[in-house]
Amino acid sequence: MSKPKVFVTRMLPEKGLDLISTIADAEVWQDELSPPHDILRQKVRGLDGLVCLLTDQIDAELMDLAGEQLRVISQMAVGFDNIDISAATKRGIPVGNTPGVLTETTADFAFALMMAAGRRIVEGERYVKAGKWKTWGPTLLMGHDIHHATLGIIGFGRIGRALARRAQGFGMRILFYDDQVTEIIGRELGAEKSVLDDLLSESDFVSLHVPLTGETRHLIGERELQIMKNTAVLINTSRGPVVDPEALFNALSGGEISYAGLDVTDPEPIPENHPLLSLQNCLIVPHIASSSVATRNKMARMAAENLEAGLKGERLPYCANVGVYQDG
Ligand code: GLV
Repeated sequence: MSKPKVFVTRMLPEKGLDLISTIADAEVWQDELSPPHDILRQKVRGLDGLVCLLTDQIDAELMDLAGEQLRVISQMAVGFDNIDISAATKRGIPVGNTPGVLTETTADFAFALMMAAGRRIVEGERYVKAGKWKTWGPTLLMGHDIHHATLGIIGFGRIGRALARRAQGFGMRILFYDDQVTEIIGRELGAEKSVLDDLLSESDFVSLHVPLTGETRHLIGERELQIMKNTAVLINTSRGPVVDPEALFNALSGGEISYAGLDVTDPEPIPENHPLLSLQNCLIVPHIASSSVATRNKMARMAAENLEAGLKGERLPYCANVGVYQDG
């Protein structure tokens, strides 16, 4: 019997590709960049399964071009704002994602960004390599303490809570803003539930951990940045469009806030001539918060397991649209 036909939109870590190649007749896109959308439109025709990344736009038209035999879309990421989930559900296609395995790694990274931005580590490194280090300076590169500062966590799901656990060790006061999480859950992690504006005005560090939805797009804009302390540091490891980039540029260059540490940008990747790149007080890295060897392998394996289940017609172990199943 021939194996199901699958397209994988990029070279994945080995742990995932090994499984995919044993269960499917898989074509793997070899380029460093995602397949252009018109190529993807050709590649999906006749597929049984599609393995994709957050850089691929998976819309209703693509699902229809694939054909009715398409029985699973498996994404190697926890976020899935690039996929038209309701179109997939309407067509009975389960969509897999990779929650859980990247929680601790991403929280580590958010904390690392917080420390790097707060303590100006990257600026310091640039200073040394530019040959500017002449002496111990009494006011050289003064930053902001992390220990005992107030941390505001926006979005108190898995990653937000993992960040809170780290912050406890640094004696931080922790506030969280999340309508879906009770005060009691917060209290177990030493975190106080807050309304958005109080969190913004009281926090020294604000870290974003919400999915990108219609409601969270530009959740942090001009008004919110103005409410924040002038000394505050903004950390974003969620999705770029959660922050209005123009408002962020104005706030950083006008001294409304002191620093930003961004793992994600809008647009992504950030163009070379983007105004944010001209600022010393904006640290930007290329969407690598979950990128440890162990975690990226686990994510790839999980994506492969979701694919396998979908191809067999079994329930996906991690499904982003459980509404696709009769029992939800
Ligand atoms: C990364 O941003 C992910 O959603 O997994």
